[in-house]
Amino acid sequence: MAEKLLTRYEELKAQVNFHNYRYHVLDAPVISDLEYDRLLNELKKIEADHPDWITTDSPTQRAGARPADRFEKIRHPAPILSLANAFGAEDARAWYERVLKIDDRVEKAKFVVEPKIDGLSVVLHYRDGLFVQGATRGDGEIGEDITSNLRTIRAIPLKIPVTREQTAVKGKQASITNYQLPRHLVVRGEAFIPIKEFDELNKKLEEAGEKTYLNPRNTAAGSLRQLDPQLTASRPLTLLVYQIVHSEGGKVPTSQWEILEYLKALGFPVADVARRFNNLESAIAYTETWNEGRDKLSYEADGMVIKIDDLNLAADLGFVGKDPRGAIAFKFPAREVTTTLLGIEVEVGRTGVLTPKAVLEAVEIGGVIVRSATLHNFDFIEEKDIRIGDRVLVKRAGEVIPYVIGPVVDARSGKEKKYKPPTTCPACGQAVEHFEGEVAWYCVNAACPAQLLRNVEHFVSRGAMDIEGLGTELVKILVESDLVSDVADLFSLTIKDLAVINEELNRRRREKNPPKTPVKTSTKKAPDKRPEKLFNAISEAKKQPLQRVIIGVGIHGVGEVMAKDLSATFGDLDKLSTVSIEDLMTIEGVGPNIAESIVDWFSKPSNKKLLGKLKKAGVWPTESKKASKASGKLSGLTFVVTGTLPTLSRDGVKEFIESHGGKVIDSVSKKTSYLVLGENPGSKLDKAQSLGVKVIDEAELKKLAGR
Ligand code: IVH
Repeated sequence: MAEKLLTRYEELKAQVNFHNYRYHVLDAPVISDLEYDRLLNELKKIEADHPDWITTDSPTQRAGARPADRFEKIRHPAPILSLANAFGAEDARAWYERVLKIDDRVEKAKFVVEPKIDGLSVVLHYRDGLFVQGATRGDGEIGEDITSNLRTIRAIPLKIPVTREQTAVKGKQASITNYQLPRHLVVRGEAFIPIKEFDELNKKLEEAGEKTYLNPRNTAAGSLRQLDPQLTASRPLTLLVYQIVHSEGGKVPTSQWEILEYLKALGFPVADVARRFNNLESAIAYTETWNEGRDKLSYEADGMVIKIDDLNLAADLGFVGKDPRGAIAFKFPAREVTTTLLGIEVEVGRTGVLTPKAVLEAVEIGGVIVRSATLHNFDFIEEKDIRIGDRVLVKRAGEVIPYVIGPVVDARSGKEKKYKPPTTCPACGQAVEHFEGEVAWYCVNAACPAQLLRNVEHFVSRGAMDIEGLGTELVKILVESDLVSDVADLFSLTIKDLAVINEELNRRRREKNPPKTPVKTSTKKAPDKRPEKLFNAISEAKKQPLQRVIIGVGIHGVGEVMAKDLSATFGDLDKLSTVSIEDLMTIEGVGPNIAESIVDWFSKPSNKKLLGKLKKAGVWPTESKKASKASGKLSGLTFVVTGTLPTLSRDGVKEFIESHGGKVIDSVSKKTSYLVLGENPGSKLDKAQSLGVKVIDEAELKKLAGR
């Protein structure tokens, strides 16, 4: 009886470990959570009755350990090395030339490219297939024993191979059977917190009103060095392995690529974006695709590692200090840097929101010099305890504007100064207000010049009324010269007014950039066409469709899609200004908050006055419902646009296609009906051609639409 139960116990351990592997390593579970829990509970029950049976590879032993007083030191069986950096393809080629000079076998070498994960190096020991010890890198010779903490990471197999049969996925069996599992196997990997899990962790902390973490790397490092493994267990740590540091009593592969395959077959998590190439140039080309594509990775990577595949050759090449010559870290441009916070300025937005802006000591981030960054809002400064003079961590990634992540508290000298948010608007001097349930502070003075400036900027912008030629500089002059007190005033500007502000613009530009040689006054200059052009552009804007006017006046919460729906549903501003919250909520995507914000906007006297002026100026478009989507000539067709078109702007072409019933999407697929091609197209053209998607130009598009 007991024997039978013991067999069942062994079976359950293997099963739970296997399903754990399917879930945490392969990210492909084959049973439901409920079934998993059932197996685990059965296992726990047996262990409760037979505590003497429990072994270290039992899945129940992951978070059982008690807090430690300190970490013991562990000497690594071989040095845990570092990597030399390459900043770009030229550096990588120079590395190749250097190693080629040392050993001509490099000429025929293959290269493995792996992500350089921004985490923490860990060293895992397996004896007879059981996970027995794990350490931090430490100084490369001696690390700290963090076995109990590492056990809590479910991606780390407690026993390898996880199961011989199940890991033998097509042909991979050979990866194990060609070799012999060493009695002592020491594997190195990188422990980290995936970006999504990090964001979720911070969101939870924020909701609980607790302090959030700076970045995934610091959090992973802190989590692994907790004395209480229960704390480590509560953090979403995972890992990827990439190296066999040491092996004894067995046979392991001697090529990096096969090591990765072998480790994978044993049940370890291995980066799935790793590739092997026959020459350096292909390896560089692949590496560079990840420079642009790094956001597709689920973890932070600060580069890719290029490794000579033949590990015997790599070892023969030797080291420079702690850096092996056989591999190089191809670094991506940094996206996070530290710099000094020199001061905090406050900007006033279109809706009166005050936004604190960090004035920074100039610093390069990813090839761009950054001098300022957003600090989000005043609560953020307070929560993060950001002080003037602090060293701050600043991030600039992709399209988002640079932002401050937080202070480097350890770098404080004591001279840093606390910041006090303003009690008055920096633009108009009136007292600022705070609304219940919102973090933002507002300047509620409707006549605040800073707000007016942002309002006009928004109104004339490409996404709204698209008035060409009215740039930020001109708008500023218009507002400063009191020629406009709201956006409707734009339509009563005369050519003479525009000539005056144009003159002022020219004067300011000259002042900024004085001409090197004195301007000859005798030669006749061609008459300046700008005032007339501006006048015409403003007149043209009166014909803009309703949705653009709705976007232009700036109603809190109403973006492009909603403006389109409002315009199609209500048809004109007379109707829209009298609708009820209930009417609005019949529109898909309009919730009570937005509905209230719309009704509120139309009920404000200043906005009523603005609408009256717009109507008088003839800016009162109506949406005839004739252009209903299904009836247009382009209905049922999907379009992708690439490059610059001769007459239509980005938004313009979208509007054109949609007004004729067509649909515009971002990327080309087999289902795309047409690619509309302009000048300087991107990679979409290649894709369209390879998929056999028809390519047309603007003229052909217009013909299709029956224009
Ligand atoms: S190889 C000889 N491969 O980057 C082996 N390192 O400065 C040398 N890292 O401390 C390391 N991902 O913590 C290697 N795929 C990868 C890596 C990687 C991240 C880290 C590692 C090391 C640092 C190099």
